Amino acid sequence: MIAIGCDHAGVEMKKAIIDALSAKGFEFKDMGTDGEPCDYPVVAKAVCGLVTSGECERGILICGTGIGMSIAANKVKGIRAALCSDSFSTRFTRLHNDSNIMCMGARTLGCGLACDLAEIFLTTGFEGGRHQRRIDLITDIENNN
Ligand code: RB5
Repeated sequence: MIAIGCDHAGVEMKKAIIDALSAKGFEFKDMGTDGEPCDYPVVAKAVCGLVTSGECERGILICGTGIGMSIAANKVKGIRAALCSDSFSTRFTRLHNDSNIMCMGARTLGCGLACDLAEIFLTTGFEGGRHQRRIDLITDIENNN
């Protein structure tokens, strides 16, 4: 199960992702917004909660730039949120950073690209090995600051 959410800027992109990836077998828990104006940190908190509780494996957050969502999501303990706008970074943030949330900008990316990036994010595994040590060091920063 994948958690997904957006603010008012990202409604069309969120729908495009749900439609494209549901057709490929992914299931989504949609935390809104369905169109009404909202504050992106509220949606980020809801989606991140589903990931940290284990109810959802990963999350996708969309706002105008993706930046507000990524700042908010990275305040949540246990979340590693990546702002994604190209395929290389999207692939490597899974391989090397074990990112559990991807953020995208609805005003900076087209819906077709966003759907492709979401598929890369959801189908790429974590490489582990030396990268696990680095994730542990990030967790150490999180726990001691
Ligand atoms: C909303 O207008 C806009 O500020 C928001 O979608 C986002 O881009 C914030 O980072």
